[in-house]
Amino acid sequence: MILIDGKKEAANLREDLKKEVSHLKTKYNKVPGLTVILIGDLAPSQIYVRNKERSAKEVGLKSEVIKYPDNVEEIEILNKIDELNKDHTVSGILVQLPLPKHINKKKVIEAIIPEKDVDGFHPVNVGNLSSGYESSIPCTPLGCYLLIKKVEPNLSGKKAVIIGRSNLNGKPMTQLLLKENCTVTITHSKTKDLKGECLKGDVVVAAVGIPELVKGDWIKKDSIVIDVGINKTEKGIVGDVAFEEVSKIAKAITPVPGGVGPMTIACLLKNTIECFKRSQS
Ligand code: GUN
Repeated sequence: MILIDGKKEAANLREDLKKEVSHLKTKYNKVPGLTVILIGDLAPSQIYVRNKERSAKEVGLKSEVIKYPDNVEEIEILNKIDELNKDHTVSGILVQLPLPKHINKKKVIEAIIPEKDVDGFHPVNVGNLSSGYESSIPCTPLGCYLLIKKVEPNLSGKKAVIIGRSNLNGKPMTQLLLKENCTVTITHSKTKDLKGECLKGDVVVAAVGIPELVKGDWIKKDSIVIDVGINKTEKGIVGDVAFEEVSKIAKAITPVPGGVGPMTIACLLKNTIECFKRSQS
């Protein structure tokens, strides 16, 4: 069994990105810049944003976090995004989700110009990805994709089963695996016989937010299992996959923590650098 070490893969990716930033600095005499907007004081969001800022600085990006209180008006955020859209030192803009209820997520996502949308959430980027054109790709599915490719570089003809149909993970994951010529099944809460569907998967990606949903007898031998879940339980943080059972069957599996999580942030840095390069060409 291969334990997919997301921590190590993310460190390798950051090392490559650091070299790339150094080359870009020599070539253009400037470095890519990432600006993160954080609204409110949700603890998980604060931790994510702190990690994003630290990693961005580590690879040599210009990094800025702009914080607002929970009760900030929507217009203030939209005005700030407008300002950042026009700022040539800012290559990528990320507004940390979730947002307070009085702020319209769709409006905020669409306010960021697609060229600076490092999350790949803007409808133009979503459309470009689904049409197979160049686009920003949402960081978590991009991280999953890179981990899968490490284990199995040739995915052509493989059956991929995705659990969860979110815009953040399930849907973009589908596009990435389709592009690799996988036969993709998207499953969700209304799927009949979820176990039966999972058993067909050469690749199974669980991104549904249900602790240890995927059991050992849901997975066929030699499958690659990617666990996107981060669920708080009495026994601590667990994924969407029952790791102990599934790791006895699968060919390869990501642990939680230390699997997909570290790759997500590294991919955000990668997206920021890609946005910078496109802005220079
Ligand atoms: N909150 C949790 N994950 C994400 C993400 O990938 N992007 C943003 N903007 N917010 C998040």
